[in-house]
Amino acid sequence: MRDANPIQSLAMNNDIRISPSILAADFAHLSREIDLITPEIDSLHVDVMDGHFVPNISLGTPVIASLRAATDLYLDCHLMITDPLRYIESIAVAGANGVTAHIEAIPDPVPVAEEADRLGIDFGLALSPNTPIEAIVPYLDRCSIVVVMSVQPGFGGQRFMDQVLTKIEALRESVDSRALSTDIQVDGGIDLQTIGRASSAGANVFVAGSSVFNADDPVNAIVEMKSIVGMGNR
Ligand code: DX5
Ligand code: ZN
Repeated sequence: MRDANPIQSLAMNNDIRISPSILAADFAHLSREIDLITPEIDSLHVDVMDGHFVPNISLGTPVIASLRAATDLYLDCHLMITDPLRYIESIAVAGANGVTAHIEAIPDPVPVAEEADRLGIDFGLALSPNTPIEAIVPYLDRCSIVVVMSVQPGFGGQRFMDQVLTKIEALRESVDSRALSTDIQVDGGIDLQTIGRASSAGANVFVAGSSVFNADDPVNAIVEMKSIVGMGNR
């Protein structure tokens, strides 16, 4: 598998995964929070926001580099930024294993996909709630993952938007009918109440921020979500 960073590879074959979003973690004690849940997960979701594509600023390359030094987990970097082409190399060098960029920011995603290939990291496209799947379908074969946002990008802790379930269903149909191995990630408002609906619609990668890091017992929160989506005990 192409992977510039010396960590475990994730087979991109529609494995079911929970990818906790560190946006909801305590940034002053990130490694402590990550170490606690590491036995239950394979990847971490890292939300990069530039205060321009979205009305919020989160974290950037220095934090990704610190995470890389602190964990062997796959770093799934969600770029909520206006110009991913400008920053993708520094994000890859910092230690990202994969990036997802918003189709609303890059109407022509091919140059970013090609740059990801050159850098040896995985590439995917994200869709905000109001964007139809037709915007990304032409590029599915270039994506190892697609992200269906189930909240407006920019903030954690929002309520899951049920209206995106039909987009997940349509994407699953599109991926399967073309025999692609593109993962379908759902991001926003995923918790014990919503994860089952997202899974039934066809998502196989579940981003969960608040429902993990704000839980009294984050490990148990992950274990319970895993059992709902049929991961059982691994
Ligand atoms: C929102 C981010 C999400 C967010 C999810 O812009 O892309 O990844 O952190 O957080 P919860 O799970 O709290 O909705
Ligand atoms: Zn995200």
